[in-house]
Amino acid sequence: MSFTFQDFPAARDDLRADVLAGLAARPKAIPPKYFYDEAGCRLFEAICAQPEYALCRTEQALMATHLSDIAAALAKVACIVEPGAGDCAKVRLLLDALRPTHLVVMDIAGAPLAASAQAVSRDYPNLEVTALGMDFLRDLEAAAPWLPAGQRLVYYPGSSIGNFPPDAASALLARFRQLAGTAGRLLIGFDLKKDPQRLHAAYNDAAGVTAAFNLNLLARLNRELGADFDPARFRHYAFYNPVAGRIEMHLLSLMEQDVHVAGERFHFALGETLHTEHSYKFRRDEFAALALTAGWRLAGEWEHDGFAVQLFR
Ligand code: AVI
Repeated sequence: MSFTFQDFPAARDDLRADVLAGLAARPKAIPPKYFYDEAGCRLFEAICAQPEYALCRTEQALMATHLSDIAAALAKVACIVEPGAGDCAKVRLLLDALRPTHLVVMDIAGAPLAASAQAVSRDYPNLEVTALGMDFLRDLEAAAPWLPAGQRLVYYPGSSIGNFPPDAASALLARFRQLAGTAGRLLIGFDLKKDPQRLHAAYNDAAGVTAAFNLNLLARLNRELGADFDPARFRHYAFYNPVAGRIEMHLLSLMEQDVHVAGERFHFALGETLHTEHSYKFRRDEFAALALTAGWRLAGEWEHDGFAVQLFR
């Protein structure tokens, strides 16, 4: 058994600079990666358990149902690389099916990643596990020295790719291709276009968990940047935009108000929104075309109840 943990504190994201720039922009916007403080991670787990938000359960069911086909299509894999691996739970199915020699996981939350990756390392005694505490959006290339030679598979589940606008998604997929190397492959999960009412309900669950997740961003800014947002003066506002093919999530100001963040004052007009997330939905052909712009060619695909996984080489 071998386990290595490397933290990249210098490469950490800059909440203060990103938030100040986002509040000064028009429309106001904050990158969705800042949802995931400790409370945000817990709330996201709770979202996945809501009856309206089937995305996580559906992907799990798809992977379990089609695992042997997926493994057959992948054949030999020496190293699985998972950016944004979190609790390392999803990759275990692939470890069982593919038996690679190496696993390299990355996540911005270094300490919890190290704990989960160490547990994987205990459960798979023949696997060499490397955990990199990094914001892979900034510093993906720094992972290269930890990757062994041999066939690499980049695994990016959970429809996280949907949280990037098409240009940024294409750029990220191109960086994955560099990381995967010449014989490398990509296995990626994404949410499909479906009945807008179903999509709308998924981001407006009756229990209000998605609303709490969205509003938690303001609590984080109050705590970490000395801001004075009053969450009661903002409303979670999420809707499906069929023209753009995405869920848009906003925090809508219920009144004209000034807010102070890190010593700076920002004005919100009544009804003005702070944009917090896009969640793009795709048809399978649309996603394959997007991946092709990054040099990836489709090598297999599986679909289950409104969710798809595609394999690229
Ligand atoms: C992580 N990501 C794929 C989720 C999504 O559906 O876009 C985040 C989320 N936002 C609101 N609910 C869930």
